[in-house]
This record gives sequence, C-alpha cells and structure tokens, in this order.
Amino acid sequence: MTLDQQYAFSNFKQRISQAVIAAGLDLDDLGRGSLALLEDFHTMGRIATTQLVELVEIKSCDEVLDAGSGVGGTARYLVDHFGCKVTTIDLSKQYCEVSRWLNHLVGLDGQITVHNGDVTKLPFSSGSFTVIMSQHVQMNVVDKSSLYAEARRVLRPGGRLAIWDITAGAPGKLEFPLPWADQPSLSHLVSGDVLRATIECVGFAITHWSDMTEEAVLIMENLLQTLTGPLGLHVFVDDFVVKMNNLVRGLSTGRLRVVRAIAEARS
Ligand SMILES: C[S@@+](CC[C@H](N)C(=O)[O-])C[C@H]1O[C@@H](n2cnc3c(N)ncnc32)[C@H](O)[C@@H]1O
Repeated sequence: MTLDQQYAFSNFKQRISQAVIAAGLDLDDLGRGSLALLEDFHTMGRIATTQLVELVEIKSCDEVLDAGSGVGGTARYLVDHFGCKVTTIDLSKQYCEVSRWLNHLVGLDGQITVHNGDVTKLPFSSGSFTVIMSQHVQMNVVDKSSLYAEARRVLRPGGRLAIWDITAGAPGKLEFPLPWADQPSLSHLVSGDVLRATIECVGFAITHWSDMTEEAVLIMENLLQTLTGPLGLHVFVDDFVVKMNNLVRGLSTGRLRVVRAIAEARS
C-alpha cells in the first residue's frame, strides 16, 4: 500500500456534497467554519487547530505555509480569522483538489494558494514564510531531517514552526489501522526526544513543548460519542471509527503520545 492509496477516496465532491446537504447546509452558501467537523484531520480536530494557532500567535501580516495540509481546514481557518496569506502543500493530488474546491465554495480561493508536492522537497524560495504549521504529517515521513531542514530553509530567521504531532510512547504493539496508516509500513513514529532533537539539529530553537496525551484522551473519548452526525471525517476516511478507537487506545495506554510544539528559526 502507498501513501497515495492511504489518503485516496472516490467521488469526493459527491460524498462531501451529500454530507453537507444531510447536515441541512447549503453548498452555495456555506458559512466559513461550518465544515470544521470534516476538515481538520488530526487528534482533537478543530480544538487542536485553534489551540496551536493561539500558541503560535498568528498575525494578519504573517505569511503562513501549512505543510501537509490535507483538505485545507487549517488554511481556511487562518484566512478567515486572521486575514493572513496562506500557502498549502500536500502530497495527495486528490486532497489538493478537494482543498481548492472547498476554498472556492467558501469564497477564500483568492487568499489561499494550494500546491501539490512533498514537504521534504519544498518548491519555495528560502525565507518565503514567517510561520509554518504542520499537524499530523511527520508520522508518514521517513526523512524527518529533510522535512524540518526544508521548513527551516523556507522560514525567515525568527519565523515560527508550529507542530501538533503523534510520537512513539511506551513499548508495545499498536493496533492498526490508525488514522495516518492502515498498516505499520506507512507509520514512521519516533519518540518525542528524537523528534525534538531532529528539529533542533536543523536550526530551530524549541520555545514551547507540551505533551498533551492525557488531555487528548479525555477530549477524544468525548468526540467519539459525537461521531454519528452527517458531517465528519468518516465522509471520506474509510473505517474512521475503527481508526479513532485504535488511536484513543494507543494514547490511553501511553504507546502513542501527542505533542504540541513551537520552534523558532535561528539566524
Ligand atoms: C492525517 S493527514 C493531516 C492533514 C492536515 N494536516 C490536517 O491536520 O487536517 C496527513 C496528511 O499529510 C500528507 N502528507 C504525508 N506525507 C507527506 C509528504 N511527504 N509531503 C506532503 N504531504 C504529506 C498526507 O497526504 C495527508 O494529507
């Protein structure tokens, strides 16, 4: 199985349109933020996005890159709330197409540039951005040094990298599928210490690092109770409930950890 297959889904416009209609919303008059339940593909969903954005202190003058942007929920949230300029990049062609379509539907296509590409080989000039956000992407990336070295290269000195990510925890077997990997061959977890050292090694100073595992378990257990509505990641993520249950079990046994961090690009 390839990463492309991991994140592939068919009839995306149809599936999302049907979910929107079932939720009683109008596709031609979508309120910004009304899709929050299906556009943030990471632990704690929109709650985690808002907390990370608050921590990294986004300003309207920021030029932001969302690295591994999925269907673009974070980008739309940033433009809607801060009016900053946002660029996104994701390896999945299909997610990029969904992103462009949703940006258009909520009238934000003029403010968000979507690139289909690899976060370990960024197609941007050095110093192009003041902030990079990356949520739940490095778990699929083997070459984490290139991921963060590229992030450092395209950030200006003093720029901030904001991450929300899963790391390896206590030893023990994980149950698959997980939200980022149907099988172990697609999951490239390292411990929090290794992740931190990798980021520091390529020219960042970590200014904030918090392990949010315990809080995330409580929030995710509550979120799991609400997965019955028409709008949610289950619209395009196969076996979503199984994946979420495996994730929550991994977090609650401590075999998986979830961390939030900010790192500043050193000059
Ligand atoms: C679990 S999803 C998270 C998406 C988004 N960050 C979010 O939180 O909603 C992981 C995303 O990382 C992307 N991804 C994985 N490896 C990548 C790479 N090397 N370059 C670019 N995108 C990558 C996948 O295509 C997928 O969209």
